[in-house]
Amino acid sequence: MDVVFDNVCFTYNRNIPIANEVLKEVSLKMAKNKINAIVGPTGSGKTTLVELINGLSLPTNGRVMVGDFIVDHNIDKHKINLLRYKVGLVFQFPEEQFFQTTVKQELAFGMQYFHHKIKINERISEVLKMVGLNDSFLDRNPFKLSGGEKRRIAIAAILMFDPEIIILDEPTVGLDNGGRKSLINLIRRLKYFYRKTVIVISHDVDMLYQIADFVHILNKGELIASGSKYEVFNDIELLLENNISIPKVAAFTRKVYDKKGLNLGKYYEINDLIKMVYKHVQ
Ligand SMILES: Nc1ncnc2c1ncn2[C@@H]1O[C@H](COP(=O)(O)OP(=O)(O)OP(=O)(O)O)[C@@H](O)[C@H]1O
Ligand SMILES: [Mg+2]
Repeated sequence: MDVVFDNVCFTYNRNIPIANEVLKEVSLKMAKNKINAIVGPTGSGKTTLVELINGLSLPTNGRVMVGDFIVDHNIDKHKINLLRYKVGLVFQFPEEQFFQTTVKQELAFGMQYFHHKIKINERISEVLKMVGLNDSFLDRNPFKLSGGEKRRIAIAAILMFDPEIIILDEPTVGLDNGGRKSLINLIRRLKYFYRKTVIVISHDVDMLYQIADFVHILNKGELIASGSKYEVFNDIELLLENNISIPKVAAFTRKVYDKKGLNLGKYYEINDLIKMVYKHVQ
């Protein structure tokens, strides 16, 4: 499902002056079956923005179209419940919200709120597979898993109800290199294999440069830019102006161009770039 923001304003407290709005007339489109990245300095409104997509907060003005759903401040409760089947939101540090004693219970828990007639045990095995784990995790204590495994279980819990849109808020934070790499592969699989629409908030621009299709920049509640990752992440001045880190591959490619006049081409992965550089120096 596409997600379209149409002139969306949001304020946590309707009594505060309009200048303090957290989101200011945001209009943007996130494309279905793609990986859409949201970047911006801390406090720029990224988490607030995604909470409007599953109705956790409602726009003060404007509307968000999620497929056929229209989320505005008049949306009724029943519609919001339906919307939450469609949009799975994985919070930052989702594993901090575990409270069951086995992985199986943790995954089954959310389903009691969804009156879907599905076979829970089969679904649990399926989602474990989707996140690259297996049934040997069923009886494990979720609190005793590695950081990367915990993160996968939290994503699996959201996949239980098969949402069309998956939103991940800072998915790689706090993971070691191995955990980060396998999470990157999982996000890729969600798009390519399971055909999900993925929305990722992250400060990890190197990860986003590898996997995103589109990038949206927020700053102080305003949409600053929206475009393909190549357009946005190669506009170094735009990134600097908005206090966004420059992906290492983009920075290196630019440096080589500025210093040597050499155009290395479009590379998103450091290993591909290294191969290209070797070709030039041989
Ligand atoms: N529940 C709340 N009540 C009042 N103000 C809030 C609330 N949650 C967030 N804010 C404010 O809204 C603004 C945007 O916050 P938000 O969490 O969306 O930013 P963010 O871009 O996700 O930041 P970060 O990168 O640090 O996660 C901030 O100024 C924040 O202080
Ligand atoms: Mg946030």
